[in-house]
Amino acid sequence: MAHLLVNPSSPRGTILRVPGDKSISHRALMLSAIAEGESRIDNFLNGADCLATSAALRAMGIRIVEQGATTVRVRGTGLDRLQRPAQPLDLGNSGTGMRLFAGLLAGQAFDSVLTGDASLSRRPMGRVIDPLSRMGARIDSHDGLPPLTVHGRRSLRRIAYSLPAASAQVKSAILLAALYADGICEITEPATTRDHTERMLQSMGVSLERGPGRIRLAGRPALEARDIEVPGDLSSATFVMLAVLLARDCEALIENVGVNPTRTGVIEILSRMGAELRIENRRLAGREPVADIRVASSRLHGIEVDPTLVPLAIDEFPALFVAAAFARGTTRFSGIAELRVKESDRIGAMAYGLRRLGIEVEERPDGALVRGGELTGGTVQSYEDHRIAMSFAVAGTAAAGPVTIRDTDNIETSFPGFTDCLRALGADITEMEAVPA
Ligand code: S3P
Repeated sequence: MAHLLVNPSSPRGTILRVPGDKSISHRALMLSAIAEGESRIDNFLNGADCLATSAALRAMGIRIVEQGATTVRVRGTGLDRLQRPAQPLDLGNSGTGMRLFAGLLAGQAFDSVLTGDASLSRRPMGRVIDPLSRMGARIDSHDGLPPLTVHGRRSLRRIAYSLPAASAQVKSAILLAALYADGICEITEPATTRDHTERMLQSMGVSLERGPGRIRLAGRPALEARDIEVPGDLSSATFVMLAVLLARDCEALIENVGVNPTRTGVIEILSRMGAELRIENRRLAGREPVADIRVASSRLHGIEVDPTLVPLAIDEFPALFVAAAFARGTTRFSGIAELRVKESDRIGAMAYGLRRLGIEVEERPDGALVRGGELTGGTVQSYEDHRIAMSFAVAGTAAAGPVTIRDTDNIETSFPGFTDCLRALGADITEMEAVPA
């Protein structure tokens, strides 16, 4: 397991890009696999999570050919020609992979087993098991935890399902199963969540009815293969934005970033904290909004984070905790209990790590109060969670002393090339095989 040592650094202005969006890369692979014809996916995220999805599809007979580092071609076989995998499908660290596959496999005429690493094996799956069971699939689990055995069936029952909590993964699992339903499925969400599945289905010629908080999809449509250009991942760009915001006199341009409005909560929250962020050169990649983000060093101040923005910034809270630690005054986070069941307990992980670095954090069951101050150096745990690791790495660039982050291999799941990217910004960052005692 590798570790990172980050010394106080002076990030400098530059123009850069971040790797492709993780959520969109997963969906591009899965939907291309069940489309008719060959799809080409450009700027595909070559990270461990999406590679696990690719391997799982190959294990079900899908031909996926890599062309260079970030382009893949997928030969779709239509809705019904996935083959029974001979082995359990190992989705590594990926909650998105497991939940979306549960939906896709619910509609197949074979059984399959979904497994993952230690972190994924602790993540709740009842939220997909419940609606998929109502549709007629049988899914065995260990008290709602992985591994999952999905006993699929060719024709699923249609449902009208009201999501008990906002979750794009659950919504997408139901949408994938709805492709195999014998009628119209209707999904209602309590708050808007990322809508990449809906947009991609529409781009593949599937007609969806969409109203505020409601989606209707008729079963057994034909998906047409498409060339898909994956935008840069705003969740990865957040770490670059944060490094620049915390630096002194630095400005950077991050090109080609996805700015789908169901994802831009982080821009709104940071702007309310005083961040100088500008979205320029807006355009579309397929049906996904894309832009360049200009960011400049800023004096941040604490705020009460509006809980209605939580689903639109769900993966960015570890980075926002770091922003709060460097801000003047107190930042109050609430309505983020869901963070406790991500790749790690992200509220606990950030609170513990920030306290180790000298910041006062009051933890609440569904949030935290972070009192801005000066970060000292020290050693923190990543809990093998990519976003915790990257958040503390960026914190290290602006801390008063060196910050060591333990167990950072999982950065590869979402942001391959993260350390090079931070170095390009001028960060003093070293990979280490062992942490000195
Ligand atoms: C994702 C949805 C979010 C997010 C995850 C990716 C997706 O999870 O945290 O990283 O691709 O649909 P939830 O839907 O469980 O909140």
